[in-house]
Amino acid sequence: MKELLRPSQEPASAVDIAAAYAWPEGTWTRAMMLTTLDGAIAGTDGLSGSISSATDRLIFSEVRRLADAVLVGAGTIRAERYNPMKARNEYQEARAAAGLQPAPVVVIVSGSLDLPWQDPLFHESAQQPIVLTHHHESSSSELRLAQAHADVQQIPDLEARTIIGAVHARGLSRIVCEGGPTLLTLMGAADLIDEYDITLAPILAGNGHGIVDGPLGEITRLRLAQAITDEGFVFAKYVR
Ligand SMILES: NC(=O)c1ccc[n+]([C@@H]2O[C@H](COP(=O)([O-])OP(=O)(O)OC[C@H]3O[C@@H](n4cnc5c(N)ncnc54)[C@H](OP(=O)(O)O)[C@@H]3O)[C@@H](O)[C@H]2O)c1
Repeated sequence: MKELLRPSQEPASAVDIAAAYAWPEGTWTRAMMLTTLDGAIAGTDGLSGSISSATDRLIFSEVRRLADAVLVGAGTIRAERYNPMKARNEYQEARAAAGLQPAPVVVIVSGSLDLPWQDPLFHESAQQPIVLTHHHESSSSELRLAQAHADVQQIPDLEARTIIGAVHARGLSRIVCEGGPTLLTLMGAADLIDEYDITLAPILAGNGHGIVDGPLGEITRLRLAQAITDEGFVFAKYVR
């Protein structure tokens, strides 16, 4: 059945964002990505904030509010310089009721271990960031530097299934994969993303960096579970 989405006359505040982005029971991996109409994942400054909106940021925070883990590629950490994952008082009751730690833990996938170790993310987060990497010689200076700032787990065959397996093995079930395109391509190609929360920004950026960087193998068709519109943005939820 075709449905014509019309821009809502109601402000986004009329939509119950918490209910719309509630976490399902059990293990669940959702991807959160923002794209312009021409598929760009960042503005001319190389950052996604410049193509975002207030409601986009609200949904992003809401998904993190009751997440166990924020899974992200090293490229995004190097570009976006994430703030620390701190426990917020107003979230504690709901997190405790869901059996969650006071704040989500960031899980970074990096082969090179070239990360901005001095950033507050690594020193002021409620939980020490986890870095998943491939095997490094124990004498390597990169490894020793990383181990001084993060909980480093070496996985010899570092690929999508072993990455998700390592996160689950730590008891982390609610995973929000915040990209970037390289990591999302890896996870998507292995069909390990249960839900794609894609924000379509009413912008043409013209810089040619799309949300998926390479072929995914088989074409996967997803079901549109929900769409919210606000100020020309479309907030779409696609599930397998
Ligand atoms: N619009 C959005 O929603 C959104 C979301 C996130 C990011 N972004 C943007 O995306 C850009 C970054 O994208 P990106 O694709 O370069 O970054 P990315 O996917 O965040 O990170 C890529 C890095 O992840 C590591 N990695 C991924 N798979 C690996 C594997 N199997 N084994 C070892 N390491 C692996 C590598 O790190 P090493 O290089 O350390 O080995 C690789 O260089 C930035 O401009 C950021 O602003 C946009």
